[in-house]
Amino acid sequence: MQESAIELGEGEIHVWEVDPEGLTAAERLARYAAWLSPDEEARRQRFIFERHRHAFLIARALVRGTLTRYAPVIEPAAWRFSIGAHGRPEIEAAQAAAHGLEGLRFNLSHTDGRAVLALARGEIGVDVEARRRRGNLRGIADHFFAAPEVAALEGLEGEALARRFFDYWTLKEAYIKARGIGISLGLDRFWFEVGAPGAAIRIDFAPDLEDDPASWSFRRFDLGEAHPVALALRRPPAAGLAVRLWSGLPGDPVDDAPATIE
Ligand SMILES: CC(C)(COP(=O)(O)OP(=O)(O)OC[C@H]1O[C@@H](n2cnc3c(N)ncnc32)[C@H](O)[C@@H]1OP(=O)(O)O)[C@@H](O)C(=O)NCCC(=O)NCCS
Repeated sequence: MQESAIELGEGEIHVWEVDPEGLTAAERLARYAAWLSPDEEARRQRFIFERHRHAFLIARALVRGTLTRYAPVIEPAAWRFSIGAHGRPEIEAAQAAAHGLEGLRFNLSHTDGRAVLALARGEIGVDVEARRRRGNLRGIADHFFAAPEVAALEGLEGEALARRFFDYWTLKEAYIKARGIGISLGLDRFWFEVGAPGAAIRIDFAPDLEDDPASWSFRRFDLGEAHPVALALRRPPAAGLAVRLWSGLPGDPVDDAPATIE
């Protein structure tokens, strides 16, 4: 475990990602398993398939091992979490207060072949999807997306359709996860405008949603060919945002020069 804490500034999102399927060393898996709380271990044992138990273990290790990088005084096994009304885990308030971590927020996302953890000092949401998992994209969009998004997908086919579809899907998930209230929010009551790569991503809200587009920053990027990712942070775009990305295993030495996401 590294010795000095990683600093997380107000205007930053730190992203940590891992491919669970690439991790098979028994010794390391046993170390991660020892980090689980009794509740987490019980949850792990409820999965029927070993690959789901494995993915669950890696996701927990990613959360616990990464949080310790920001507060090395707390061992990975010692983190305690509370669960919000809609299932969102947070660092337990008493533990956060005892260590001056009140502002530290995180959000986890996992899918086939990837687990991604985002940390920030504000309402943060992350979503990763597997782009190869395709169904009837246009049908799903018609059912769930808002009218401007459905219109923007018209005329797109094949790879272009899949890319734009997953842009919207991941951004919508990241936003509802940042709000911490789940899809009860209504996925068609807010919509995104996604321009060329690198252009600002804009959100708009139905009036009854009572949220302000000017208070949200978004980023999207791919991990390899297969995994689109979106981030949402309640922070005015004008205030600036730096996003850093680390790849690798929980508990490994930290790369001093992480990638930057524009
Ligand atoms: C949590 C939720 C918001 C997203 O779930 P998901 O996309 O299946 O899963 P992700 O891997 O991205 O996120 C799951 C993690 O988010 C966290 N989480 C759980 N509830 C959460 C909430 N209400 N808000 C934010 N994060 C939450 C947990 O850490 C969870 O991991 P865990 O179950 O291993 O502890 C889920 O409640 C949901 O409603 N999903 C809707 C899926 C959908 O139809 N999307 C359409 C998009 S257009």
